[in-house]
Amino acid sequence: MTLSYDPTLFRGTAAFYLRGRPPYSRALPEFLAREADLRGRRALDVGCGPGTVAVDLAPHAAEVVGLDPDGEMLAEAARHAERRGVGNLRWVLGRAEDLGTLDLGRFALVTFAQSFHWTDREAVAEVVYDLLEPGGVLALIGHEVNGRPQPVGPGSPPIPHEAIQALLDRHLGAKRRAGQGVWTLPAERHEDVLERTRFGRPETVYLDGRSDLVQSVEDVLANVHSMSYAAPPLFRDRLEAFDADLRALLTSMSPSGTFWDWPGDTGVLLARKPNT
Ligand SMILES: C[S@@+](CC[C@H](N)C(=O)[O-])C[C@H]1O[C@@H](n2cnc3c(N)ncnc32)[C@H](O)[C@@H]1O
Repeated sequence: MTLSYDPTLFRGTAAFYLRGRPPYSRALPEFLAREADLRGRRALDVGCGPGTVAVDLAPHAAEVVGLDPDGEMLAEAARHAERRGVGNLRWVLGRAEDLGTLDLGRFALVTFAQSFHWTDREAVAEVVYDLLEPGGVLALIGHEVNGRPQPVGPGSPPIPHEAIQALLDRHLGAKRRAGQGVWTLPAERHEDVLERTRFGRPETVYLDGRSDLVQSVEDVLANVHSMSYAAPPLFRDRLEAFDADLRALLTSMSPSGTFWDWPGDTGVLLARKPNT
């Protein structure tokens, strides 16, 4: 299957991303650095968005390259790195499908955090295999709620995801759009796709997710608008009306104006290129 990239997919979401999206497990950067023996070596974060994973990996590596086809995301990523005071990062505008022609060098670790599903997965995995050093690691990262034990929260009510989806239905229709097309997740699991590549079937590891995230009404609003299917441009002239309805909904559901956001544990699919 060949996918053509839609440049409007995440348009308008970048400014909301770092504020609105829950972070991955605190243990993730050290875990990846250890698995890939990253010290003094290079990592590539594909679909890096605002540098979520790339910036956290930088202190563990000689250099981290963040690749994304969305210029607004890369501008956010550069600001994020500057705020954190890390300089051994490079931001490259491009698609995963172009990795074979970008001349980025070789890597000990290649990560995709909630981005592999946007790509032409099987072909991209094969290109990544060639970019990895012997023994190098491919890591597919995401939040996993299903089947994970829910921890005890800090006391605020959970984010009312179902009510928010119903509000989105009212404003945007029940069919989720993203960019110019319709938002869908691929039916085939990443594990099954990788099994057909030279990587073979990956190993799954879960790292403890954050159980203590408390979000304000405005944080939840940022979370909603960080989603490709709720990007501000999709609302056209109804954006203010939607935001007002969302604020009213959230305020009615939490007198303190705070919400517990449990994103689940951080799931990592690990695939390794053999040493020889
Ligand atoms: C859900 S965001 C994840 C951002 C970041 N990795 C994180 O975990 O916070 C998905 C990112 O994938 C990027 N993306 C979409 N299609 C892509 C492609 N074909 N190649 C590389 N990145 C792509 C988007 O621009 C977006 O920044």
